[in-house]
Amino acid sequence: MSALIHFQVDRQLALIGLAHAPVNALGQRLRSELLQAIERAVADGEVRAIIVYGHGVPFGAGADINESGTLAPFASPSLGDVLLRMTQLNKPLIAAISGMALGGSLELALACGYRISEPGARFALPQINLGLIPGAGGTQRLPRLVGAAQALEMILYGRPVNARHALQAGLLDRLAQSPETLLAEASEWAHELLAAQAPAQPSPPWPDPASELPAHYFQQYRSANKHRWQGQPAPQQALAALEAACNLPLAEGLAFEAGLFRQLEGSSQSEALRHVHAAEGDLGTQPGVNLQTPIRPVHRVAIIGAGTMGGGIAMCFANAGIPVALLELKAEALDRGLRQIRTNYQTGVKRGKLTEAQLEQRMELLHGTLDYAEISDADLVIEAVFESLAIKQQVFRTLDEVCKPGAILASNTSTLDVDAIAAVTRRPQDVIGLHFFSPANVMRLLEVVRGQATAADTLATTLSIAARIGKIPVVSGVCFGFIGNRMLEPYSREAHRLLLEGATVAQIDKVLTDLGLAMGVLAMHDLAGIDVSYLIRESRREQIRQDPGYCKIADALYDLGHYGQKTASGFYHYQGREPVENPELTALAENIAWGLGITRRVISNQEIHDRCMFMLINEGIALLDEGIAQRSGDIDLVWINGYGFPAWRGGPLHYARTLGLDVVLEGIRHYRQSLGAYGQMWFQPAPLLERLVAAGKTRIEVI
Ligand code: NAI
Repeated sequence: MSALIHFQVDRQLALIGLAHAPVNALGQRLRSELLQAIERAVADGEVRAIIVYGHGVPFGAGADINESGTLAPFASPSLGDVLLRMTQLNKPLIAAISGMALGGSLELALACGYRISEPGARFALPQINLGLIPGAGGTQRLPRLVGAAQALEMILYGRPVNARHALQAGLLDRLAQSPETLLAEASEWAHELLAAQAPAQPSPPWPDPASELPAHYFQQYRSANKHRWQGQPAPQQALAALEAACNLPLAEGLAFEAGLFRQLEGSSQSEALRHVHAAEGDLGTQPGVNLQTPIRPVHRVAIIGAGTMGGGIAMCFANAGIPVALLELKAEALDRGLRQIRTNYQTGVKRGKLTEAQLEQRMELLHGTLDYAEISDADLVIEAVFESLAIKQQVFRTLDEVCKPGAILASNTSTLDVDAIAAVTRRPQDVIGLHFFSPANVMRLLEVVRGQATAADTLATTLSIAARIGKIPVVSGVCFGFIGNRMLEPYSREAHRLLLEGATVAQIDKVLTDLGLAMGVLAMHDLAGIDVSYLIRESRREQIRQDPGYCKIADALYDLGHYGQKTASGFYHYQGREPVENPELTALAENIAWGLGITRRVISNQEIHDRCMFMLINEGIALLDEGIAQRSGDIDLVWINGYGFPAWRGGPLHYARTLGLDVVLEGIRHYRQSLGAYGQMWFQPAPLLERLVAAGKTRIEVI
């Protein structure tokens, strides 16, 4: 019939195979050909029932992501129209699902009267992750099939379910034995249905999807999540659509859902989330690396240093079933490190995330040692010792002596020069930075620092291992702080300075959390440790000497021994982990400001937003221009996954586009003038920002 559909009539059954490799994306052509195939089956007098299945490919991964943001998803026939037609047939229609039914493809299955899958299939409506809701009947048909409570989990959170769970919930009617027997079992079932004169569309098991929900459920759910959903229309609309499924007849609910979907398709939230999705897809694309680049086998890993980071990194590998040797200088440090790992796993057991047996299995994969000879066969070594160039270079000299040829030697340094570390070895091509974020076993971001001499296969191998341990690897060039911490510096600097000029700690942090950041920058410094940022400043006093007020408040807190959460006092005071106002901070700020001749004034929220954000954005654009970051999307992923920037704003550089690059540039120029010597010193527009604005560009790319 056509390249995208495989059509066959067999024993009175029309077998419609969707064959749009690789994952049956439901683009306009497939939709149109599916509709034709359905009409052909309807018109064929010999056909008494229809089976839709994935022909040599999974059942389907949903909409064609390449169509998003264009009018193509609405190009006739729309998925909603195709599915509506499928519900109007007088012949039973079975979805036979292999692999996956995600998004629009699950909606396709929901429009069929009957559903069977193989045991390995997965089901999800993940549209919410792209700032959308299911727009082809999913929000209306799913609750009628499984009840509103279960549908809410899948639609509001995009939670996937496996085949067994789908069967229990009522999403599936039957499970086939295997993918190989799926079509035959579906055909047998079709004949059973015909023999039993089953209706083409059986009546739904949940005609009143809300019947098991408590009274005022939706209202309460909405108000409980009001703050969390601020600025995010998709979860609000998903809830509204579900409520409609409980209150409106199907036809009206479908029309309501379609209207909401169209609104969301054009929303800035969805645009931002689609940008994030595309940025994740680009991660593997690196200059000099392609599908032919060899990947070195990694079977054994060694970690040097069993402290906070070393322990967390070791857990990442043990969680993925990869054996890890942990090396320390002293037995006490090693015991402490291993004990801490066990304690962390025990917390997981208490929270029901892990069984006792899994805990033991993972601990068995960890092997402590004090002897470098025992790690000579490691394929990948990650150093996580103290942040001192001399100590790290000494470790790398030893690794160079003992490790087998071809082993990848990585450093978890957060600020040091990876090239200077590589230079002490005779194999700089095998050296790379792997900057994990704390807690390393939880945070998904991994900055992969490509040194001057790092070989393409070293990079390709670390990218593939990152995927194995579930990380999001963003490649950075070598510079102070790499992508994330280098941008953190001007962003924090503004927050510190605003405190001196008259803003309060709570005001600054609230502006940032209102923007959607997971935490304010000052609360974040308390969490990371005021002592940690102090030591970083110490290492670069030369560069910051020009600014006499530079992070002076943080320096004063350090001198007072107020290191943040760990001492229950920093920018905030802490009662447990709960921050409360530090009453001494204003006096401290007033004193320092007086000493520096800074006139304190009332600072508006807008000024806080603009100074912190514009400096963050400006540094990101500079990093792109310098080639430290490859793409603006990489920078956005670092800030979303490492620093709590809201994904629904697309990351700082995507956010800059929504603000307008000209607005950002104008703001920087304004503060350069209005803040006197301080403004002249720091509010220096990135040359690329100036070029982009002059050229009238809206995309952020190197020109
Ligand atoms: P830590 O002080 O908790 O752990 C360091 C461990 O290394 C200690 O257990 C120490 O006994 C051991 N060690 C020191 N010298 C050694 C040597 N020559 N051979 C073997 N073991 C040795 O420090 P943490 O926080 O784990 O930091 C480690 C590295 O990770 C540093 O480079 C740091 O900058 C980096 N990092 C830290 C982050 C954090 O949030 N703590 C985040 C990202 C990177």
